[in-house]
Amino acid sequence: MKTTIDIHKKINSFSRNLKIEGDKSLSIRWALLASQANGISKSENLLRSDDVLNTLNCLKKLGIKINLKKNYCEIHGQGLNKFKYKKKISLDAGNSGTLGRLLLGLLVHSKNNIKMIGDESLSKRDFSRVTEPLSLFGANFKTNAGKLPITIKGTDKPKPIKYFEKNGSAQCKSSVMLAALNTPGKTIIKAKKSRNHTELLFKYLKLPIRIIKKENYDLITIIGKKYIRPLNYKIPSDISSSAFFIILTILSKDSKLTIQNININPTRTGILKILNMMGIKIKLKNVKKYKGEKIADLLIKSQTKIKPINCPTKFNSLAIDEFLIIFLLAAKANGISTFKKLSELNQKESPRLVWGSKILNKMGIKTVLTKNSIKIFGNPLLNIKKKIVIKNYLKDHRVFMTSVIASLVFGGKWKIYDPDSINSSFPTFLEKIKELGAQIK
Ligand code: S3P
Repeated sequence: MKTTIDIHKKINSFSRNLKIEGDKSLSIRWALLASQANGISKSENLLRSDDVLNTLNCLKKLGIKINLKKNYCEIHGQGLNKFKYKKKISLDAGNSGTLGRLLLGLLVHSKNNIKMIGDESLSKRDFSRVTEPLSLFGANFKTNAGKLPITIKGTDKPKPIKYFEKNGSAQCKSSVMLAALNTPGKTIIKAKKSRNHTELLFKYLKLPIRIIKKENYDLITIIGKKYIRPLNYKIPSDISSSAFFIILTILSKDSKLTIQNININPTRTGILKILNMMGIKIKLKNVKKYKGEKIADLLIKSQTKIKPINCPTKFNSLAIDEFLIIFLLAAKANGISTFKKLSELNQKESPRLVWGSKILNKMGIKTVLTKNSIKIFGNPLLNIKKKIVIKNYLKDHRVFMTSVIASLVFGGKWKIYDPDSINSSFPTFLEKIKELGAQIK
């Protein structure tokens, strides 16, 4: 792949149907749970991105047989805590916090030392948020001041724990849930609201889980279990990847887009609620349930009037991966928008709150940035003419994709570095953008 792309032209009107790739959170969770099942699990529409391929590679190193074919993937689960591996192995989580953190949860029983490494971006991210609760189960960790590389040596006598997840992080919650699955006795998790795919998969598999929903948090009880049945799963399409096309359509002239079979799990649809508050309606069609998840087709249309928003913080974890692209809407809104209590955004693949502000400033939009909030001074007449360069952003896939969308709807002469950053979540992103008529050199 090239080291830069150039975009010098806005996209023309389009009216299309588009297929979006499989959901990343569900693809990784399916693979990890399938590795613990007794028997063969099969999935369709598994996302073929680096984060998921790294998941499969880590599982292969842990002795799991995997058949990855063009139209499906088969994982030969060995049962709970039955990984077989060489004495000195190193697992590479690449760019993926979800893979790194969830997999450590499955390793609290490892007999030998296992090393985990990651790329430059992942090596800057905090892992103490999972090593601390996982240590309470009895696992031992050597870390680089709470970061990767990490060596884990598990325990053969794990103890159940009580854990309070305060950041609204589904990765931390899920890591502890996977450790609990392997631990005799009752683990109790009090978790601030966040995406609930792991809970829904546990329920679908009839694993012993109980959830009490309170207003601001969920109380989750898990009793360790020794048997997981195989899980055949057709992964629905990813709303976080869709978000780039949703905003592209809204901000393009006279355009329409239909995307099918999108996961609209209410813990992921903060973006739709935020759009609604900004005066934008997305039509849902063919709404149905699939193995606990909610799925629908989304019909999106261009919109000229965009209202500013004082974004309710209760949407933060429900739209956590979509804020960068939502900021582009705020840039075009008729007034000032405010987003608060978003320090978690700076814990992502790059410090995203900072990057959101940087991109907007380069576009000529005024912002006021603090450690955990941003104020965006919208300009409904925004029309960029100047040169903009985006580089050194730790190859954060969402910084790259947001920049591409900004160039296509607001104009200007953009040079964007490291297009290969899309490989972690959405390898066909640029192909799909070109399918809609974008001119990219
Ligand atoms: C994810 C949870 C979120 C999200 C990430 C995927 C998951 O991270 O940002 O892209 O699959 O559990 P946090 O749990 O750190 O908020």
